[in-house]
Parts: sequence; structure tokens; C-alpha cells
Amino acid sequence: MADAVAVWAVVVAAGSGERLGAEHPKAFVAFGEDPLIASSVAALDDHPAIDGIVLVVPEGWEERATFMADDIGAGKASIAVAGGATRSDSVAAGVAEVPADAAIILVHDAARPLVPADLIDRVLGGFADGADGVIPVLPIDDTVKRIDAAGRVVETLDRAELRAVQTPQAFLADGFRRAVAAPDRASGTDCASLVERAGGTIATVAGDPRTLKITTRADLERAEELRRAD
Ligand code: CTP
Ligand code: MG
Repeated sequence: MADAVAVWAVVVAAGSGERLGAEHPKAFVAFGEDPLIASSVAALDDHPAIDGIVLVVPEGWEERATFMADDIGAGKASIAVAGGATRSDSVAAGVAEVPADAAIILVHDAARPLVPADLIDRVLGGFADGADGVIPVLPIDDTVKRIDAAGRVVETLDRAELRAVQTPQAFLADGFRRAVAAPDRASGTDCASLVERAGGTIATVAGDPRTLKITTRADLERAEELRRAD
């Protein structure tokens, strides 16, 4: 990918964090000395290929988000907007703020605080062979089965063919804007699925186990340990 290409990141942080059960929205719980969202925003801000960052936060948290960015010196994160009811709605709200000249849009979950620079390198470097998007993936350790409504096993899937998907995910901006505008976007559980549904090609690169998603209190503790070990 040429250096001259404008790359914008959208950090989605508008979820409530119901399963974490904290008194603040998940992106604003403490992680080290800063709110959780600060960790991934700092990593994206530090990366030389990223030109700008849009923060998508719960309604009413926009000012706190820009204050946080200011506080950690993340000068690229100057835009904060309110998200929507679903993750896809929040992605759409963020993408709407990305300047028209962006060629690549990278979407990241604030719930994944640890984003090594080489993970961003791999994702942005994965646009070979005409891919419309690039996602980081990890092998699956557990056996995965498909079950029916009664809980009976229908099928054992071939683990060798399966991957767990992380963020950041990066997309060619034009196609991504179109995919995000699809009326049925809410049913997409990640951004790549929106592009897949529109017929786009998604390439995969190696993910990073440190980029785990924080869902529960135990995940938060695990990520804190990994951060301190870094
Ligand atoms: N997200 C978002 N807008 C939503 C829902 C989720 O921006 N309407 C973001 C979250 O802030 C998070 C990421 O999408 O960074 C992944 O979502 P998840 O881990 O499910 O976070 P929450 O929805 O906040 O958590 P929970 O499902 O436990 O309420
Ligand atoms: Mg959720």
C-alpha cells in the first residue's frame, strides 16, 4: 500500500458493556490510569500510517471522548460522535465522519485495548491481490459444533477451516461506505460480513492473542496482566 493513501480509523465504543456490568459504559472503565478506549486510540494515534481517528461513543460522552484524546495527546482523534443501537449503526455513524479523501477505513473495537503496531502493519499490508478488506484472524483451539434448537449436535465443523476474527479490520473506503449503507446492515456481526454480503473479497492476516476483546471482568483482568507484561 502506497504511503500517500489516506487511512482513517473509526473506533467503535458506543456499547453499554452490559456483560461487564460496570457503572460506566465499557469504553470508559479504568484500564491502567486511563479509560479503556484510550489504550487503542493511543496505539492508532502512534501508528504513522493512520491519518485521522473518529471516536464513536455513547450519546452524551462525546465531550469526554475528545477530552480523553486531548489528555493522552492523541492529536489525530479530533472527532467524536454518538453511536447507534447496534454496532453496525455505530460503525455507520463513524464512517459518516470520515473525510471523503480517505482511501482506506480501518474499524476497531474500543473493547480491544491492546493493539500492537505490527498488527496494524499486517492489516494495512494485506491489500494484495485486489482484496476489498483485510481482517486479522486466529486459529480456533476448541472443537466447534453446530447444534439445533433442541441443543442436539447437527454437525462437527472442521476446525482447520475456522478462524476467530478480531479487529482492526480495514476496507477500501468506497466499497465499505456502500456496504455500511445497506438497509439490512444491523444483522452483520462484524464489518467484514457487510462487505462479504455485498460480494466483496476479504483477505485474512495473522491476528494477535493480546488483542482480546473485553467482555467480562475476567477479560479485563487478563488484558491488564498483558498490558503490564508488555
Ligand atoms: N459497540 C458500539 N455500538 C453499539 C454496540 C457495540 O459502538 N451499539 C461497540 C462496543 O463499544 C465495543 C464493540 O462494539 O467496542 C464490540 O461490542 P461488545 O464487545 O459487544 O461491547 P458492548 O456492546 O458494549 O458490550 P455488551 O454486549 O456486553 O453490552
Ligand atoms: Mg454488545
